[in-house]
Amino acid sequence: MTERVLIYTPYERFWHWAQAAGIMMLVLTGAVIHWPGSIGVLPFSLAVSIHNVLGFLLLINAFLGLFYYVATGAIRQYLPEPHDFVSLGAAQLMYYMRGIFRGDPHPLEKTSRRRLNPLQQITYLVILNVLMPLQLITGLLMWSGQMQPGILSWVGGLPLVAAVHTLGAWAFVTFTIMHIYLTTTGRTPLSNLIAMITGFETLPKSRPEAANQESTSQSTPNSINEVVT
Ligand code: HEM
Repeated sequence: MTERVLIYTPYERFWHWAQAAGIMMLVLTGAVIHWPGSIGVLPFSLAVSIHNVLGFLLLINAFLGLFYYVATGAIRQYLPEPHDFVSLGAAQLMYYMRGIFRGDPHPLEKTSRRRLNPLQQITYLVILNVLMPLQLITGLLMWSGQMQPGILSWVGGLPLVAAVHTLGAWAFVTFTIMHIYLTTTGRTPLSNLIAMITGFETLPKSRPEAANQESTSQSTPNSINEVVT
C-alpha cells in the first residue's frame, strides 16, 4: 500500500531551485573570472557583474529561506534526532558503501515529517551554515575591498581571501556532484528529483501508530496525503 505524500511545499521547491540555479551560475561566472580569457562563454566584465548580482540574490534567498524554515518549524527537518543519530548515521553510511549495491532496503523509511537521513541533515547543515556564509562573506569582502582596500588587509589581504573563496567554490562543485548522485539513490533513481519538482512522492503508507505519533509531535506544513494503492 502506498500513498502520494506532499514532501516539499511550493516555497521549499522555489527556494531549492533558486539556490541550485544561483550556485551553478555563480560557479560558471566564477570560473570565467578565475581564468580570464580561457572560458569563452561570457565576456569578463559581464561575468563580474552577473557574479556580483547573483551573490546578493543568493544572500537574500538565504535569509528568506532561513526565515521560512524557522517560522514554519520546517527547520526541524534539518535537526538531527540525538537518540538515534549515531546508529542511524552509521547504518546510512554502510548503506551508501555496501547495501545500495546489494539492493538492501533503505535504513530509514522516508516520511513527510522526516524526509532527511542523518547524513543528509549534517551535510545540509554544514553547506547552508558554514560553506554558504563563508562564500558570501569572502565574496562581500572582495567586493567591498574594491572601494575600501583597508577591509581586505584587515582580514589577511586579497590573496588569502581569494584563496578561501576559490576553495569554497571547489567545495560547492564537489558537493553538487555528490548531491546529484545521491539524489538518484531514493526509492527509484528519479523519485527524489520528481519530488523536488512536483512536491509529491509516492511512499509506503505510514502505519497508524506512526501517523498518530507524527500528528502529536512536530507539526510542519507538509501534511497532504493521498492514498493511491
Ligand atoms: C542541479 C543541481 C541540483 C539538483 C538536480 C538537486 C536536486 C535535489 C533533489 C532531487 C533533492 C531532494 C532529495 C534529497 O534531499 O537528496 C534535493 C535536496 C536538497 N538540495 Fe539540491 N539539487 C541541486 C543543487 C543543489 C545545490 C547547489 C544546493 C546548495 C545549497 C542544494 C541544496 C539542497 C538541500 C539543502 C536539499 C534538502 C532540501 C530539504 O529537504 O529541505 N541543492 N536537491
